[in-house]
Amino acid sequence: MSLPDHGANPKIFTKALGVAYKEGSIDFSVNTNPLGMSNYANLTQSDLKEAISAYPEPHAEHLTEALAKHLKVDKSRLLAGNGAAELIFHLAHLYQGKKVLLIEPAFSEYRDACEANGCEMESIVLEDPWKIDLRQLEGRLDEVDLMFLCAPNNPTGTTYEIEEIREILNLAAQHNTMVVIDEAFYDFQESKQTIIEEIQQCNHLIILRSMTKMYGIAGVRLGYMVASPSIIQQIRNLQPPWSVNGLAQRIGLNLLQDSSFINETAVYIKKERLRMKTELRKMDFCVSDSVVNFYLLSEKDKRDLRPLMIFLIEHKIIPRHTYSFNGLNGRYLRLAVKTKDENTILLSVLKKWRDQSC
Ligand SMILES: Cc1ncc(COP(=O)(O)O)c(C=O)c1O
Repeated sequence: MSLPDHGANPKIFTKALGVAYKEGSIDFSVNTNPLGMSNYANLTQSDLKEAISAYPEPHAEHLTEALAKHLKVDKSRLLAGNGAAELIFHLAHLYQGKKVLLIEPAFSEYRDACEANGCEMESIVLEDPWKIDLRQLEGRLDEVDLMFLCAPNNPTGTTYEIEEIREILNLAAQHNTMVVIDEAFYDFQESKQTIIEEIQQCNHLIILRSMTKMYGIAGVRLGYMVASPSIIQQIRNLQPPWSVNGLAQRIGLNLLQDSSFINETAVYIKKERLRMKTELRKMDFCVSDSVVNFYLLSEKDKRDLRPLMIFLIEHKIIPRHTYSFNGLNGRYLRLAVKTKDENTILLSVLKKWRDQSC
């Protein structure tokens, strides 16, 4: 049985690994908000009844309008989806059979969606600390129809300078390549760095966003894309009506009012991530320069971390394995920034690991 391609599946993951799952384990493989779900996702009884019993708007018209207003873009440039994942699959369908470039290690659904649509896959696999060599990229853009860049990147947690992303957009324009920038985790950054300001000028830019991570609503399924009106229209034509269900539309509208949760989360994440980084480095671990709510842990010699992974599971800590990420290949573990108490438990288990290995 192969290891699952996503985090947040502790029982499936431990079974596939052949290690007993212990009740009460803490899931460090899930990268949604450690502070929980936004209170604005709670619906009143009457909203709930309405959202469940009535047909929702076929293309989430009200939510689209509200999102566009919130982001200060024209509504013709916005499309809501059943999670960002749905939009990734439609994009891959639009580029069916075409040449697609991935900057890896990266979120696995880009490859899965493109391969399912017969795309010809190209890849640049970055080395730790995962910086892009723009000259190398330029050399690869020829004949590439579409490229995916995740910023901030899942699984490394690192990001790129905004000037670098602008330069990538310039190079892509020269080669007629469409660029997807996946900003699923952008709001976990204290800086909220985004490339959205370029959307008016760049018809070859598509931005993906997810409401899942920040608002803690993985079960609701809500994401959106911002792009040129022409791309939005083409993806909308591929989308079934009612793709964004009634609950998601109602909750999405409510969440747009909750700005304090985002800021509170980003401040908390930064503080706790820095604490973890300092403590882990004291224990001689390497920690990626993450700007979001997860990071990569590795040993200085970059050995395979299977023994540590099993030790953590036996001590009720579920990490995210990295065997499925090109360029990481099990030499790293992805760990979420969780609550202060949970992070402290992780530190004590890792200390135990260090003590027993000495
Ligand atoms: C980088 C990235 N993009 C997109 C998604 C999909 O998000 P959603 O839950 O909105 O489908 C994920 C989910 O893990 C992700 O990590």
